Amino acid sequence: MNRINKCLFPVAGFGTRFLPVTKSTPKEMLPILTKPIIQYGVEEAMSAGLTNMAMVTNKYKQSIKKYFEPHAYIESSIKDTAIKSLLDEVNYISRRCDFTYIEQKERLGLGHAIYTAKPLIGNESFAVILPDDLCINNGNSVLAQMIELYNQHPDSCIVAIEEVPMSELHKYGVIDGELIENSIDTYRVNSMFEKLDPKDAPTNLAIIGRYILTPDIFNVLENTSPGKNGEIQITDALMILAKQGKVIAYKFQGTRYDCGSVKGVIEATSHLYSNS
Ligand code: UTP
Repeated sequence: MNRINKCLFPVAGFGTRFLPVTKSTPKEMLPILTKPIIQYGVEEAMSAGLTNMAMVTNKYKQSIKKYFEPHAYIESSIKDTAIKSLLDEVNYISRRCDFTYIEQKERLGLGHAIYTAKPLIGNESFAVILPDDLCINNGNSVLAQMIELYNQHPDSCIVAIEEVPMSELHKYGVIDGELIENSIDTYRVNSMFEKLDPKDAPTNLAIIGRYILTPDIFNVLENTSPGKNGEIQITDALMILAKQGKVIAYKFQGTRYDCGSVKGVIEATSHLYSNS
């Protein structure tokens, strides 16, 4: 059985919706309570049994790498004090996980960012988390649910979907497909569209920032031309594999907060604060 070992975090976007703060602080380093957004994504990957974290960054995002490294000065200043325990959570991650990084030299789209990671991933299936989609649930994490499904369909890519209001659909990739027999939440995808006008959308099933991708995706991405907004879109590449019957969409259990938007960050913060 194919096992997923690596989780890819494409985090080379500019986060323009958070300007001016993203001029010097990457969107992924904005806090939800006392942890940066990216840490929630890394913790989700760990909860799915993954310890190999591959990050596609750019030259302005050095703080992400620094965050997951020990900070000798702070540690020596607070050792033997009560506050030392505040660093335990992130130190635990640094000890347990291997982090690798590669630079996306130009912002050419999510598909291009994923293709850039090929040297970090190699010829194996892998998970992808877009950390600005912060997913919270009480049971198995969204990624753990997807890996379980992938293990039953090891030749297929898996995309996480949720129903969104028609008025929001233009922000997302949308799928059309057939329910897989005996299931209420798993579709074999026939077609996929990126950021459609809602009036043209076949369904309201929107793709969110969790994927399991087979290594076939790299060959497809290599030949994928820029699409919507002049970017190389992962949706266009997945559409090629969907035509071969190799993409499954999964309506996950849990709640997603769109932390690529100010509203989503406030909602996630408020939810986590009231449950802390
Ligand atoms: P977004 O569409 O949210 O773009 O990217 P963005 O640049 O991060 O933010 P805004 O829209 O300007 O506010 C979705 C995901 O794809 C990554 C982003 O880092 C984010 O995780 N991405 C996007 C890349 O890594 N490279 C790209 O060229 C584009």
